[in-house]
Amino acid sequence: MIEDLLPPAAVALEAFDDPPGLRLYPEEAACMARAMECRRREFATTRQLARSGLTRLGLPPAGIPKGERGAPRWPDGVVGSITHCAGYRAAAVARAADLLSIGIDAEPHGPLPPDILEFVATPAERARLAGLAAANPKIAWDRLLFSAKESVYKAWFPLARSFLDFESADVEFDEATATFVARLLVPGPAVAGKELRELTGRFAVRDGLAVTAVALGPCLLPDLLR
Ligand SMILES: CC(C)(COP(=O)(O)OP(=O)(O)OC[C@H]1O[C@@H](n2cnc3c(N)ncnc32)[C@H](O)[C@@H]1OP(=O)(O)O)[C@@H](O)C(=O)NCCC(=O)NCCS
Repeated sequence: MIEDLLPPAAVALEAFDDPPGLRLYPEEAACMARAMECRRREFATTRQLARSGLTRLGLPPAGIPKGERGAPRWPDGVVGSITHCAGYRAAAVARAADLLSIGIDAEPHGPLPPDILEFVATPAERARLAGLAAANPKIAWDRLLFSAKESVYKAWFPLARSFLDFESADVEFDEATATFVARLLVPGPAVAGKELRELTGRFAVRDGLAVTAVALGPCLLPDLLR
């Protein structure tokens, strides 16, 4: 499902459970030294998916430990992103020559608790969510907004290397094209000597999941920078 949301330069793989017996690389095992077994297993599954992705890109397997602020530390020349939620794990990778950054996120499809929505959505976003929900109440637009913002953060972080809070981007969905645009409300990182102003993404709601993905590629840049 996640592969459909990313450009062809990305390889995305998914799993719906944790296969037994997966081995971690030593630098990965060090990250999981104090983790519960279920956490170790989901971590191992996503690393296995990511390594399969590296193989598909024609690259050697490598350890993918946790790096700065929890972001995966990809091998040189690789960008990628990881997500997991109940019953779903995914990893997406691409050569850095092809894509500048990737963010993916999956959530169980269902409404967010109301107190969380207040934290996640700006007043302008809440107004638009109401319109979307009136037009198509089958989609939990609030959950999709949460997921889109998580994807935005995961794509933002390797470029900016700083935190981005939920009020710092305005996300607008286009249901007809299953896409969204995230306008940054704070100064964006410099990319190719220009300021990044927007990130664009795609979404899907399927099989009980709300899934979003953001990919920033060189061909997309002229529109998104100023
Ligand atoms: C880090 C965060 C995005 C993870 O999202 P989540 O829905 O809780 O969990 P997911 O399973 O989808 O993603 C977890 C994976 O995100 C990745 N991740 C964690 N921190 C990251 C970062 N700083 N940058 C990029 N990826 C990161 C990791 O690969 C992690 O999996 P791993 O620990 O097994 O390697 C989220 O917990 C968070 O801190 N959000 C606040 C920031 C934010 O979303 N701002 C919105 C801006 S508009």
